[in-house]
Amino acid sequence: MSNIKNKKILLGITGGIAGYKSAELCRLLIKQQAEVRVCMTQSATEFISPLTLQALSTKPVHTDLFDHEAEAAMGHIELAKWADIIIIAPATANTIAKIAHGFADNLLTTIILASHAKLYIAPAMNQNMWQQPQTQQNIQQLASLNIKTLGPAHGIQACGDTGMGRMLEAREIIAELAKNTPQTLLTNTTILITAGPTQEALDPVRYLSNRSSGKMGYAIAKAALQMGAKVRLISGPVNLPEPIGVETIKIQSAQQLLTSCQQYAGDSDIFIATAAVADFRPIVQSQQKIKKQDDRDKLTIELTKNPDILATISHDFPHLFTLGFAAETEQLITSAKKKLKSKKLDMIAANQVGDNLGFEKNDNAIELIWHDGQISLPMMDKQNLAFKLLSLLAKHYRNCNAAY
Ligand code: CTP
Repeated sequence: MSNIKNKKILLGITGGIAGYKSAELCRLLIKQQAEVRVCMTQSATEFISPLTLQALSTKPVHTDLFDHEAEAAMGHIELAKWADIIIIAPATANTIAKIAHGFADNLLTTIILASHAKLYIAPAMNQNMWQQPQTQQNIQQLASLNIKTLGPAHGIQACGDTGMGRMLEAREIIAELAKNTPQTLLTNTTILITAGPTQEALDPVRYLSNRSSGKMGYAIAKAALQMGAKVRLISGPVNLPEPIGVETIKIQSAQQLLTSCQQYAGDSDIFIATAAVADFRPIVQSQQKIKKQDDRDKLTIELTKNPDILATISHDFPHLFTLGFAAETEQLITSAKKKLKSKKLDMIAANQVGDNLGFEKNDNAIELIWHDGQISLPMMDKQNLAFKLLSLLAKHYRNCNAAY
C-alpha cells in the first residue's frame, strides 16, 4: 500500500522547461491514489497548458490570486488548509528565493505562506543559477524551515550546459514523497514485539541458544513505528542497534522474557512473537564454571521445559491481537496451522528454516495464515517483508476490532 494513498497533495508548478515533467508527476500521484490539486504560476502556463493538468487531475487548475470564480469554488486559504503535502515541481530559483524570504506575491506563494502542509521543492534551473551563493543560501534557509529539497540531479540541461540543476524524474519524486510520508495504518496502537534468541545459562560462562539474529523482529519494530504505532521491543542478545524511537528492553533467558512480556502485555493492543525461545533450559545452573574433569569422557545435562511465552500471554491477556511465527524445517503449513490453534493466535507467519533459510539471513519468505485464509509473501528483504506483513496484520486487526 502506498504511503501517499488518500493524501491531499497540492502540486505547484512554476515557470521552467521541466514543467513537461509535472504532467507525468500529476499522473503518477493520481495513480498512487493521492487526491491532487494543481496550482500554476503565470510563467508556468507559458511552458505547459493548464488544460493538460486539468485533464490529468480532473479538477480545475488554480492560477490566479484574483480569480473570483476560482476563489468562490475553493479559495486560496481553503486550498492552503486542504493540503497535507505541497510539492513544487519544478521550483525555479525565483520561487525558491520568494519562499525563503516569505514573499506572497502570487497565488502559489500566498498558499505556501498560509499553509501548514509539509512542503517539498524540486528545483530545476541552469547549473550556474543553482551554484550561485544566493541560491545556495536560500536552499539552506528552506532546510532550516523544515522545507525539504528533492534533487536537483546532474546532467545535460535544456540550455546545453552540463551540471547540477535538472529536475528529478517524476518517479524519483514519488519515491521521495513516499519515503518521507509516514503510513498511518497502525496509529493509536501499542505493539509489543519479542525478538532474537534466548540464552539459557549452564554456568557463568556457557549457555544454550540458537541461530536467531533478531533481524525479522527488529525489522517489524521499525516498520510498526513508521506505520504510526507505539512500539516496545523485548529482545534477546543480538548484534543489532536499538531502533531509534522504539522502547527496547534487553533480556537473556526465556523466563526473563516471560516476566517482561507480562509487565507490558496489559497496556498493549497487539503482540508479535518473533523471538526464537529456547524450549528447554538446564535444570541446574552451576554457580561455578563446570570443570572438564580428567576422569570423565561424558557430561550429561538435564533440561527442563521453558514456559511457552506466546501461548501464556495470549491466554492471560485475551484482549491482545496475537501474531506468532512458526519456524519449521518440515511440514511448514500443517505445523503452523496447529500452532495457530493450540496457542490461540489470530495469525501465524510460517517460516521455513534450516538449509540456509530464515535465521541469520537478510531475506525471508513467509506464508501468513489466519483462521479462514492464508497468503504467500515471497522471498524479499526482511524490512520490505515487515511492511507487507504489518499491512495485512493491520487490516485484520481493524476488522476484528470493528466487530466489537
Ligand atoms: N514461542 C514462545 N515461547 C516458547 C516457544 C515458542 O513464545 N517457549 C513462540 C515463538 O516466539 C513463535 C511461536 O511460539 O512465535 C512458535 O515458535 P516455534 O519455535 O516455531 O515453535 P514451538 O512452539 O517452540 O514448537 P516446536 O519447537 O515443537 O516447533
